Amino acid sequence: MSCSELICACLLPLVYLVLGVDGYCQYRWIRCYSNSMTMTDMVFVESYFYNKMEFLVFNSTVGWYVGYSGVGMRLADEKNRDKLLLPFERGNVDRFCKFSATMYNSYVGDKTIEPRVKLSLAKPFSDNHPGMLMCSAYNFYPKMIRVTWYRDGQKVTSDVSSTEELADGDWFYQIHSHLEFTPKPGEKITCVVEHASFKEPREFVWESSMPEAERNKVAIGAAGLVLGLVVSATGLLYYRKTSQGWMMAPVITASTS
Ligand SMILES: *[C@@H]1O[C@H](CO)[C@@H](O)[C@H](O)[C@H]1NC(C)=O
Repeated sequence: MSCSELICACLLPLVYLVLGVDGYCQYRWIRCYSNSMTMTDMVFVESYFYNKMEFLVFNSTVGWYVGYSGVGMRLADEKNRDKLLLPFERGNVDRFCKFSATMYNSYVGDKTIEPRVKLSLAKPFSDNHPGMLMCSAYNFYPKMIRVTWYRDGQKVTSDVSSTEELADGDWFYQIHSHLEFTPKPGEKITCVVEHASFKEPREFVWESSMPEAERNKVAIGAAGLVLGLVVSATGLLYYRKTSQGWMMAPVITASTS
């Protein structure tokens, strides 16, 4: 899992040393870079700016100060001769960067929220195919996700398009992948979603035509409907017959008393 995004969002401790005298501005920009949860590639960089110009930088990969202007080069020389400063700056990789990253990772780095996946029919984008399936994943975290399509077990790459991972603005993301297709009878179309919140890829199946079990259900349902109609029709006839008899009875009784 990449943690670069995390670094950008949370781990950029901007340390400004602002000397606001007559509009001149000097500041220091300290940052940590890592692309791995193990943080073995962690780099600490500290840049010094005067107005908008970077004149001095310490990069832990390089290991010493580098100056970019006359005054910057003089300062770099001076700092690089400091027997205590360089080990201290190099130590920032562990002391400052890894320490902060561990803390932030414990807040968000290992948190995952499962996507809610919906497979639906949609209007195709082009005239090449009569149908389009849309596989939508909602409310997942982190951002990284993979949505792939399979037709009868074969991975499909053509006629597939997808949105980016769209930020909902509340730490959650959504993505929509489309497969334009011409339906084939009995074919099984699958949308496979891979996400850190799943132990293994998850399949979401679209049945293009009704399989055997579904057909049987429909047949049983239809038979049930016919039987129901017959029973209710018989009941109605019986009711009308008996209710007429019952209505007539008092009339007969009244006339005889
Ligand atoms: C730090 O130094 C390394 C090695 O020269 C370089 O690849 C990297 O881009 C530098 N990082 C920054 C932020 O300048």
